Amino acid sequence: MPAVAVIGAHWGDEGKGRVIDFLAANRDVVARYAGGANAGHTVINDLGTFKLNLVPAGIFNPDCICVIGNGVVVNPPALVSELKMLTDRGVAVDGLRISERAHVVLPHHLALDVLEEQARGAHAIGTTGNGIGPAYVDKTAREGIRMGDLIRPETFRERLTQVLARKNRLITQIYGGTPIDLNEVLEDYGRCAEKLAPYVTETGRLLRDALKQGKRVLLEGAQATMLDIDFGTYPYVTSSHPVAAGASLGVGIGPNQIDEIIAVVKAYSSRVGGGPFVTELVDETGERIREIGQEYGTRTGRPRRCGWFDAVVGRYSCEVNGVTRLAVTRLDILDTFDEIKLAVAYELDGKRIDWVPANLDDLERCTPVYETFPGWKAPTSHIRNFDDLPANARRYVERIGDLLGAPVDMVGVGASRMQAIVRRPLP
Ligand code: GDP
Ligand code: IMO
Ligand code: MG
Repeated sequence: MPAVAVIGAHWGDEGKGRVIDFLAANRDVVARYAGGANAGHTVINDLGTFKLNLVPAGIFNPDCICVIGNGVVVNPPALVSELKMLTDRGVAVDGLRISERAHVVLPHHLALDVLEEQARGAHAIGTTGNGIGPAYVDKTAREGIRMGDLIRPETFRERLTQVLARKNRLITQIYGGTPIDLNEVLEDYGRCAEKLAPYVTETGRLLRDALKQGKRVLLEGAQATMLDIDFGTYPYVTSSHPVAAGASLGVGIGPNQIDEIIAVVKAYSSRVGGGPFVTELVDETGERIREIGQEYGTRTGRPRRCGWFDAVVGRYSCEVNGVTRLAVTRLDILDTFDEIKLAVAYELDGKRIDWVPANLDDLERCTPVYETFPGWKAPTSHIRNFDDLPANARRYVERIGDLLGAPVDMVGVGASRMQAIVRRPLP
């Protein structure tokens, strides 16, 4: 049976975690394919409220194998504390598997992330400070250390000794920062390695075997299309491939093994960090969305920038990812608005366009062309059937599906697992 991928279609925090938790109830394997502890995936289910950074959101299904794929960059101390948080709260983590090919986020990556952001000054990306960019840089520069190296103490010592000497020169001589102590890292990471070693394996083979055996595999996206290193608002992006194509690379299966791609979008748009955001509302309405939606970063607590739904980005994202179905979350956050807007096109230098310019200066000059919808002014969180939604809410959701060119199969009307309308069983 082919795999299903769940991706974010805007700038992250669309509610991927909740959709994956919902779908994971009947999966054999859930595998994260990109990013690192920059992700913050909120899951609210019978066991409580959880904020996951590295562990796939399938972990609440005790029969599910949860894979951290080769495309992920793993911060071992962060993962060890996440696993402790889960076990302390009664969630079994025996189903976890970590790719031996996944790269390790090291203290010099964290230090460089901060120093590089400071050096960028007014052009800072607004990273989450989790060392993600520097870790992927080392991976492509062939200077990275992988999980398979970390769990072999001699290999780890040898690789780190080599790499850290140069990184410390960069930290101190270019940025005037404090050098990282080799022995401290060997000790801290050595302790983590002992704890993580039982989970480290060749997960690519595990995934390929699972698919051959007809198991149900779900590929968990982190971040989102507009943060993709190639397809996002470069350079205001993350350093990995959150798009669906990244899923095949990030877990080690053929692209033809993925036949359904579910894009998660919010009923409005939000972004955290720097970079263009055409429908951003820097007024009372934006403030209102942020307060009702409690739009503060899961990972960093930063206020998220809020705006109306950007269907130009949504359509672009559906095309780039080959989206087959949509999940629209947070419809309930719009329950009290008199009117709701939807950007159906942009205006660039007096011309109407319906695509996302690749050039950042062009994108920054774009202004939204809106369609305005009357609000439904009624609570929706208790509703479980699409037909029971107020007519104006149905019209708004259908328009999103029309504009993006994919059916809206799931609608989130609240944050917990069951607060959802499933219109068509998801694959
Ligand atoms: P992710 O990074 O894509 O997994 O999303 P986050 O967890 O960072 O942010 C999504 C936020 O929206 C979390 O606080 C979720 O609990 C919440 N959420 C998800 N779906 C819904 C929904 O349908 N309604 C409401 N009110 N909250 C939702
Ligand atoms: P989830 O999986 C929202 C943003 C950061 C910054 C940019 C680069 O929860 O949707 P990085 O630390 O990756 O180098 O930061 O990307 N960013 C996210 N924004 N949700 C996320 O993940 C994000 N992960 C990174 O705010 O603008
Ligand atoms: Mg998030």
